[in-house]
Amino acid sequence: MAELIKGRELADNMQEQMRLEVADLKKQNITPGLVVFLIGDDPASKTYIKNKEIAAQKIGIQSKLENFPADISEAELLSEIKKYNNDPNYHGILVQLPLPEHIDEQKVLLTIDPKKDVDGFHPVNMGKLLLGQPEAIPCTPYGIMKMFEAYEIGLAGKNALVIGRSNIVGKPMAQLLLAQNATVTMAHSYTKKLPALARQADIIVSAVGKGHFVTKEFIKKGAVVIDVGMNRDENGKLIGDVKFDEVEPLTSFITPVPKGVGPMTITMLMQQTIEACKRQEL
Ligand code: GUN
Repeated sequence: MAELIKGRELADNMQEQMRLEVADLKKQNITPGLVVFLIGDDPASKTYIKNKEIAAQKIGIQSKLENFPADISEAELLSEIKKYNNDPNYHGILVQLPLPEHIDEQKVLLTIDPKKDVDGFHPVNMGKLLLGQPEAIPCTPYGIMKMFEAYEIGLAGKNALVIGRSNIVGKPMAQLLLAQNATVTMAHSYTKKLPALARQADIIVSAVGKGHFVTKEFIKKGAVVIDVGMNRDENGKLIGDVKFDEVEPLTSFITPVPKGVGPMTITMLMQQTIEACKRQEL
């Protein structure tokens, strides 16, 4: 029988700890501040941002939304970001991805001061992660590592398969697992015989973005399955990458969608805002 990894519950507990920590900082006249840039009005991005605002408010982090129209020029966006690099009231800067086609994502990420990069997407922070000396860590993989820790899921010597090689989830996830001495395999759209490869894995992290992609044919009995997917089915219902009903009975631990990885991502963003604030203020 699988144990459900309750991301919502773990996130709530961590957020309560953070609330106390922020209350202590406020006694020293320090309030962590986070600015979020949203370009355009993509509905999925707006949902993420709304949830970020709710979490920030609960914890006592000052959060501000900078919403610009989709046709903002790249130069103007870069200049808006630079204002916050120099604003001591904001310790964290997040630019919601994806960006409109005409804006160069790497240029934007390079413009954020690495000290204020709460996503960990700046090349300097990515480089530090690769070297095993992380400072800011991408929030989704970081939240998944916290889940492994909270549920005492050992990683050393385990076969871990990461499906998906994005810069924001797959690649940093692989580095974090490697740092904990897992034997890491990365699968992607060119990978051959994926179900057979997956059946060798003790741990599967799926970040594919395709509903019901991971089926029972992927699962070795007793595997741990982490579902990063946030997909909509034909009725608009939120579903993960994993065909939960048939996969769950084969696993030892599994995350649900919703209330799994999602709340942890937002929680880690808050954590990193607090950490960035402490590095800048204390
Ligand atoms: N878009 C989807 N996930 C993320 C995230 O974690 N950070 C940012 N900045 N954009 C995203």
